[in-house]
Amino acid sequence: MDHFRYQENRLYCEQVPLDRIAEEVGTPFYCYSEATLEHHFDVFRKAFAAIDPLICYSVKANSSLAVLDALARRGSGFDIVSGGELERVKRVGASGRKVVFSGVGKTSAELRAALDYGILLFNVESQAELTRLNALAGQMGKKAAIALRINPDVNPVTHPYISTGLARNKFGIPTARALALYRQAAAMEHVTPVGLDCHIGSQLTSVEPFVEALRRIKELLALLRREKIAIQYLDLGGGLGIPYEAQQTPPHPDRYAQALLGELEGLDVTLILEPGRVIAGNAGILVCRVEYLKDGETKRFIITDAGMNDLIRPALYDAYHGILPVMRRFDREEVMADVVGPICETGDFFARDRMLPEFREGELLAVRSAGAYGFTMSSNYNTRPRPPEVMVRKDRFAVVRARETIRQLLDQETLFS
Ligand code: LLP
Repeated sequence: MDHFRYQENRLYCEQVPLDRIAEEVGTPFYCYSEATLEHHFDVFRKAFAAIDPLICYSVKANSSLAVLDALARRGSGFDIVSGGELERVKRVGASGRKVVFSGVGKTSAELRAALDYGILLFNVESQAELTRLNALAGQMGKKAAIALRINPDVNPVTHPYISTGLARNKFGIPTARALALYRQAAAMEHVTPVGLDCHIGSQLTSVEPFVEALRRIKELLALLRREKIAIQYLDLGGGLGIPYEAQQTPPHPDRYAQALLGELEGLDVTLILEPGRVIAGNAGILVCRVEYLKDGETKRFIITDAGMNDLIRPALYDAYHGILPVMRRFDREEVMADVVGPICETGDFFARDRMLPEFREGELLAVRSAGAYGFTMSSNYNTRPRPPEVMVRKDRFAVVRARETIRQLLDQETLFS
């Protein structure tokens, strides 16, 4: 459920018409609905209410301070993957006790900053990282609580670029090596193994791979307990998919929760979850303007003022995003079209061979489901300033991140004289 709806054929975000925002802030822009973010968080939390897990929203999905703030106010914790994301969660006043740190390449500076903030859990991905963390914690006179991220070798059945739980992926520690590494960790002076972690991929559209991974993790948990390694936290990562197309029916959080809860009974652990997309994905859209129309030999091109630098998902994952007119008109024919950006690459598209209402020059369109991995993956390719981010709360909106200027981009550069 989201709060992007037509009222009298005008597309609104909550109670604000999107054409009004376009008028005031220009195009393109990202627009987020605070009520939708909150609703998605609440639905997710409610699904797991029986065991009250620690929900650590995955910051990489949408790291806008206003988004993090809205979720922090809801009681969310955070899953971070860099020193930059740590600074963001600090900025919204998140307690370190609700922060977990994932990623295969954490630098010493990042590990130190996280130790300094007293985060809950380091999800360690290799022996080398474990050794380094132990040394750094020693230097700082601290003890780091760790989980090992296990690679359970389960196929998440999603796009290969966002599969992480297969043996051939760079992520995690093979199950067969995990026990030996836990023993090493238990013998180290400045780390304490307290958790087991896994994250097998993103945009999963069935619960089976999650259950399969959890079963493998449980076997390891039993072995660790036999060795008196006291595991208190089970972090099952994120990955639950969302409907990008109306006919897609990924499991509802309730079904996901039921499948996991059945497996978790009697385990005596605190569950940690790291949802990203399912919270933010359908809480945001990208609004842009039709710059030109152009008829090719076989189809029409709708050329917008947003491009793959603003939203790279279609180019990178061949991802589907719904396209809506901001003003709905019923006197328009449907035509087969590609919605493309101004960038000099054939991969610069938002939709291909899509039946869409005829758009005219200057009209606004909305690219749906752009709240997760939209702005956070944007770039300045073609020296394009990144768009602003707007948050809507009921009948009000605010620019929560200003549009970049070309001047800002160029000011970071100097000539080599
Ligand atoms: N935890 C870890 C350790 C992760 O690596 C990720 C996502 C998440 C949690 C959150 O996963 P989610 O609930 O959002 O599926 N850029 C891609 C998605 C990359 C996901 C990376 N890791 C996309 O646009 O589809």
